[in-house]
Amino acid sequence: MRVFICGIDGYLGWTLAMYLSVRGHEVAGADSFLRRKWVEEVGGHSAIPIVSMNERLEAYKEVYGKEITFWEGDLCNYDFVLRCLKEFQPEAIVHLGEQPCAPYSQIDVEHCVFTQHNNIVGTLNLLWAMTEVCPQAHLVKLGTMGEYGTPNIDIPEGFFTIEYRGRKDTLPFPKQAGSWYHQTKVHDTHNIMFACKIWNLRSTDLMQGVVYGTKIEEMNADERLCTRFDFDEAFGTVINRYCAQAVIGHTLTPYGKGGQTRGFIHIADSMRCMELTAVNPPEIGEYRVFNQWAERFDVTTLAQEVKKAGEAAGIKVEVKPIDNPRVEAEKHYYNPDHQKLFDLGFRPHKMVDMLPEMISDLMKHKDRIEAKREHILPTIKWRRDGAKR
Ligand SMILES: NC(=O)c1ccc[n+]([C@@H]2O[C@H](COP(=O)([O-])OP(=O)(O)OC[C@H]3O[C@@H](n4cnc5c(N)ncnc54)[C@H](O)[C@@H]3O)[C@@H](O)[C@H]2O)c1
Repeated sequence: MRVFICGIDGYLGWTLAMYLSVRGHEVAGADSFLRRKWVEEVGGHSAIPIVSMNERLEAYKEVYGKEITFWEGDLCNYDFVLRCLKEFQPEAIVHLGEQPCAPYSQIDVEHCVFTQHNNIVGTLNLLWAMTEVCPQAHLVKLGTMGEYGTPNIDIPEGFFTIEYRGRKDTLPFPKQAGSWYHQTKVHDTHNIMFACKIWNLRSTDLMQGVVYGTKIEEMNADERLCTRFDFDEAFGTVINRYCAQAVIGHTLTPYGKGGQTRGFIHIADSMRCMELTAVNPPEIGEYRVFNQWAERFDVTTLAQEVKKAGEAAGIKVEVKPIDNPRVEAEKHYYNPDHQKLFDLGFRPHKMVDMLPEMISDLMKHKDRIEAKREHILPTIKWRRDGAKR
């Protein structure tokens, strides 16, 4: 299958390019290297060193004997998007090319507006370009479980049937995003659903849980094939951050009461889900939603699991909650469905089985994590000082 990956230089994008190419798919992708600049801007760096895109592509060719095609450019530039699609003629487009970080979008008005513009305009450009070049291609769009928020009822996969004042309909499940970043995903969802309706495009919106993990197996072959691993306050996600904290003897820091519960998925399982989705496309004109997560944990339980894994590796680990910089429910009901990918054959890893590998991979780069120790604790707050509470 010919798969075009938007955001191919990212944590998931580079990993997916290799994962799909190794499995016989023809892969091309685009990126503008924004993620590298954002992490630098917030004072972080990848714990696991990464090489330039050119070096990645060369290393991949050397090790696996295959080529991945790359275009450098901005998805917010319509002509660029059009050119890529015209040249590659994809059967599936996996859209990962957005600003993916909630704290970054909360920094100030510039970061909020940038995130909304970057994500919403990039997706709109893709939708319009698809109508011109490849209206039958399948858009696999990375949304987030964070679009749903934490309602006090079960969360279905995208749609639910509701009876109101004696009448019944199947409608999109309400979205209650928790950051300016998450709001962009909600806007994308609405735009994609609309494009499928009016233009007969087809798309799967993947509501992905929080991804963790240092690598996929194929990266063991050569260190130039590694993907990035961030642990700073903005771009590090919770399990990854806990593991980085553990290896340098930093206290693990759940936010607030620590009952925030989310769905999680290992990076290798995220790859498997995206492949399963791509090779099982929806009908022409169909917009569908899969909830892409494997296991559910609250952030305190997660910290305890990382503590156990750290201690098994001979590291002393402490857990101590800190004030929550976010505005979110700290104890709540959380029961989202995730059946559709399992029906397609998804069988996930267990988080507890993956932690030892993560800790051991990060131990090798302990010095790099130590060097950015002061960028671990959160300083970006959801509330604005001086604003009415
Ligand atoms: N990592 C997670 O835990 C997670 C969870 C749920 C959803 N997601 C979603 O999955 C996608 C990929 O996440 P990730 O962790 O790999 O993020 P990432 O930042 O590592 O990857 C995104 C890539 O897209 C590129 N990009 C962004 N805007 C662009 C633009 N306008 N033009 C060209 N390239 C652009 C960036 O440079 C980056 O390389 C994102 O949409 C994210 O919201 C990620």
